[in-house]
Amino acid sequence: MVSPRHQRLSAYRETSTARVGATLEALFTEGGVDARLDAAMRHGLLVGGKRLRPLLVYLAGQALGAEEQTLDAPAAAIELIHAYSLIHDDLPAMDDDDLRRGQPTVHKAYDEATAILAGDALQALAFEVLARPRPPRLAAMVTTLAVASGRQGMVAGQALDLAAVGGLPDVEALAHMHAHKTGALIEAAVRLGGLAAVDEDDPRLALLARYARAIGLAFQIHDDVLDVTGDTATLGKISGADAARAKPTYSSLLGLEGARQKARELADEAIEALAPLGDAAAPLAELAAYMIERDH
Ligand code: IPE
Ligand code: IPE
Ligand code: MG
Ligand code: MG
Ligand code: MG
Repeated sequence: MVSPRHQRLSAYRETSTARVGATLEALFTEGGVDARLDAAMRHGLLVGGKRLRPLLVYLAGQALGAEEQTLDAPAAAIELIHAYSLIHDDLPAMDDDDLRRGQPTVHKAYDEATAILAGDALQALAFEVLARPRPPRLAAMVTTLAVASGRQGMVAGQALDLAAVGGLPDVEALAHMHAHKTGALIEAAVRLGGLAAVDEDDPRLALLARYARAIGLAFQIHDDVLDVTGDTATLGKISGADAARAKPTYSSLLGLEGARQKARELADEAIEALAPLGDAAAPLAELAAYMIERDH
């Protein structure tokens, strides 16, 4: 049975998915220079995907009073970075995966060089989309997205992930890796939403950051759990890929129940962080619960 809580979240998800879908689709109205590159970018960006980072932008922004239309650009920007990160994550030199979002990965549908370039171009497009409307606090938004994407964020996390293959890090090292490879973009999504509404020094951004750090880690722990418990058709990516590639994960370190318990604790911590924001943050709390219950 669908609880009223999840019904409400479904409505937010539908609106957010439609808005970000339209924003992303519109980017391709004007054709690029190379049709094959454009097609590969569209393949990695537009088909499937839960669009959870855009949803975080909308919900965080609205929790602090931002107008919906000011959130379209940051929501699209974070999804562009995420899509680029997935295309590169799947490359043979990285996780070497053939299936993503229920379809062949970009390097399988096209070729490796095109997949690398599609990722590069999506990354650049993210900053273009973010900057074009010249929103207030644009400099803070660009800085947020750049830092979260690069050597202090997602890319650093991916480097740690690759270095950890075959090893057995302790839980602290694994948390550090997860916080970067996955947490950084989730935290950036929440902060971008917040920055559409308030200045950088607004204390509510710190509350949102606490929330985001907790759900960021919980989200990747649940991704690790799903790799073990999920099936390929539901996941839209090959299950069991982490074990096959000797990736250290929360479930390999703590066992499935230990990992699930940790994810639940983090979701509770995230919800607690929102308390001072009152009702306006209720959808974010619902999303925290969904993130560790989802089946794909
Ligand atoms: C997958 O992210 C990669 C991780 C960081 C765990 P999502 O589970 O959000 O993937 P999509 O966007 O729905 O395909
Ligand atoms: C991916 O983590 C993180 C990024 C893409 C930055 P995973 O390698 O666990 O993601 P999946 O399982 O392939 O989606
Ligand atoms: Mg990976
Ligand atoms: Mg992967
Ligand atoms: Mg994974």
